[in-house]
Amino acid sequence: MSKSLISIQDFSKEEILHVLETAKEFEKNRTQDILAGKVIACIFFEPSTRTRLSFETAVNRLGAKVIGFSDASNTSVSKGETLKDTIKMVSNYVDLIIMRHPLEGSSRYASEVSSVPVINAGDGANQHPSQTLLDLYSIMQTQGRLDHLKINMVGDLKYGRTTHSLLQAMSHFSPEFVFTAPEELKMPVEYKDFLKKKGIRYTETTSLEDHLNDCDILYMTRVQQERFTDPMEYERVKDVYRLEASMLGNVKENMKILHPLPRVSEIDQDVDDTPYAYYFKQAENGLYVRMAIISYLMGYR
Ligand code: CP
Repeated sequence: MSKSLISIQDFSKEEILHVLETAKEFEKNRTQDILAGKVIACIFFEPSTRTRLSFETAVNRLGAKVIGFSDASNTSVSKGETLKDTIKMVSNYVDLIIMRHPLEGSSRYASEVSSVPVINAGDGANQHPSQTLLDLYSIMQTQGRLDHLKINMVGDLKYGRTTHSLLQAMSHFSPEFVFTAPEELKMPVEYKDFLKKKGIRYTETTSLEDHLNDCDILYMTRVQQERFTDPMEYERVKDVYRLEASMLGNVKENMKILHPLPRVSEIDQDVDDTPYAYYFKQAENGLYVRMAIISYLMGYR
């Protein structure tokens, strides 16, 4: 069976760098009919703006056709159909499945029952590997390299799947991490153990001010309301950090602020006009990187 992309660890360092190089070519030439005649399914069991629309745009720009749904309540899932049966059916219709689902491990399971490759477009609090590849592309484009950078991850590091995938991908490139989070939303132990085993340094803090001025990348994240079982706990932490333009006076000249988006209140809109804000360009990069991921998994580049 062809290769799926479920966790960023499914890709070697060489494969990651290959996708980033291909994405550069797609950024220069956005329309290439290399997948004419193919059909790709985008099935989203959870809300999305960027991931679904950029994947669908990528499919269209590669010359393939896209089918799918963005609201599972309009499908036979609402009649009790299992994920297994849904995936078996869809994989008989298409050449590739792109899936977002709220359950951790659902994408891996889907890849095991599917007859075609699966791309994980986010499974609960677990992984979001296509986001990671566009994050790496954005880091490469802004810093000129991936090696020896100091990455400050801020916000919901417990439920923020993008931070989990990014940490694992960056481990190929000798990074140093800062984890800025309140006690309730700290980076899970399993990811810190992963770094320890690889000999990668990290520092933990609860203060946003502590490492604003010495990082190369400030990776802001939203507090993931949809993952909380206790609404009171969400209320306690939802506004824990708010980055404002006035706080950026002494940051590194080439520091860039990334955010997987959507943002709520963690980045004030006055930051958008500073030279440090890169999050909208980062989201645009998602198109080129997703074109590269699809074309690689379909065996074209
Ligand atoms: N970054 C991201 O996954 O955004 P969406 O939820 O809008 O797809």
